[in-house]
Amino acid sequence: MHIIKVKDYTEMSRYAAQHVIKTIEDHDEPVLGLATGSTPEGMYNYLIEAYQKQKVSFENVTTFNLDEYIGVPATDENSYHYFMEHQLFKHIDVDPNHTHLPDGNTDDPQKECLDYEKALEDAGNIDLQVLGLGLNGHIGFNEPGTPFSSRTHVIELDESTRKANARFFDRKEDVPTHAITMGIDSIMDSKEIILMVSGEKKKEAVKQLVDGDISESFPASVLKKHPNVTLIVDHPAAELID
Ligand code: F6R
Repeated sequence: MHIIKVKDYTEMSRYAAQHVIKTIEDHDEPVLGLATGSTPEGMYNYLIEAYQKQKVSFENVTTFNLDEYIGVPATDENSYHYFMEHQLFKHIDVDPNHTHLPDGNTDDPQKECLDYEKALEDAGNIDLQVLGLGLNGHIGFNEPGTPFSSRTHVIELDESTRKANARFFDRKEDVPTHAITMGIDSIMDSKEIILMVSGEKKKEAVKQLVDGDISESFPASVLKKHPNVTLIVDHPAAELID
């Protein structure tokens, strides 16, 4: 795992956006894996700015998001569909038919998982996957204990994850209990991965990732087995690593 230390959230976002733009430039039909949450918001803003300045076009880009809550309609502002539409998609020239998120409102989540895997395979897998890091080491919504061999699946969210995400909901009880997430093995099929981590509250997780063992009890540790991963970490989050 290649580690890039940057000053702060702004630098992390700029660095990651430049990486995404380079991937788009290097491929005729780039496939991007995208994340939601606070971590990539700044990167999305840089990408929108670059698009507005005509430095990049998303015309030929296909996207796959990591995850979606179960039972939250796409029109609900807490859904990841809504997040992606408002944080990125509606501001750029990506073809809506080329953007993919798991459907968390389906009557048949198991079938949705299989269909999502098939769509990933048909797209030829992800060229660049963007990840954030959960406080408990989750990637996507793969919580501690998820098998490294997992493919897209339904997962019950950890209490700690529901607590961390409660900031977006009116009441903690409103945070969904389940989600559909790309599996760890699905993520590992990506040709390249960037993991962005910012902020003092993630410093223990970063230490565990960098200095700890590779173990299913800390899902992100699997990334150390991937041949092309870059950890972009800002100084507050990197405080406990050398
Ligand atoms: C989001 C996702 C999650 C987040 C992680 C960090 O699609 O898959 O793994 O990346 O929970 O969240 P933030 O960025 O809000 O700290």
